[in-house]
Amino acid sequence: MSTLHTPQAGDDGGKDMDVVSLLMRQHGDIRNLFDEVERTTGEERRDAFRRLVRLLAVHETAEEEVVHPFARRALPGGEQVIKDRLAEERAAKETLAALDDLDTDDPKFMPQLLKLRKDVQEHARAEERYEFSHIRRSTDSANLAAMAKAVKAAEAMAPTRPHPGVESGAANMALGPVAALMDRTKDAVRKAMGKDS
Ligand SMILES: [Fe+2]
Ligand SMILES: [Fe+2]
Repeated sequence: MSTLHTPQAGDDGGKDMDVVSLLMRQHGDIRNLFDEVERTTGEERRDAFRRLVRLLAVHETAEEEVVHPFARRALPGGEQVIKDRLAEERAAKETLAALDDLDTDDPKFMPQLLKLRKDVQEHARAEERYEFSHIRRSTDSANLAAMAKAVKAAEAMAPTRPHPGVESGAANMALGPVAALMDRTKDAVRKAMGKDS
């Protein structure tokens, strides 16, 4: 097996002191995990997909809670830039939820995965171009470091994937696994930022 193993979110010993470089590195990790899902099958693919879903949940939730609110306030035209990014994130989450209902070896899985990958790539490019590059110019290194710290804390605290029967939960079952994961990740991010809810 020539699996180039992508570090799991939460094992992040990365030294990024700047939220922009941290999030851009995660964009790279997400790309690698898509590769890993595509080139594996069976149990390996299931495992790679689980790691991809978790990283996407952590990454997008951290952006929504930490970075987008700052960009909305601080960037010229920030309101519109963030409105567009949130619409892309919502669409990607819907595709992700649909994908999550399929077994990873289902014939319908790969076409859906490729659609998700395309949407996620375009979204990441738009963030880097219209949001991240401007964030660096709009604030100082102390604030970039503080936001990086919040994202990393969220990453460390985010739940691992709920497994039916392992996680307790009527709530999880009712929300669906992806929605439940997003929800619990949001709680972790808010705790990491010192907010209660
Ligand atoms: Fe995003
Ligand atoms: Fe992103």
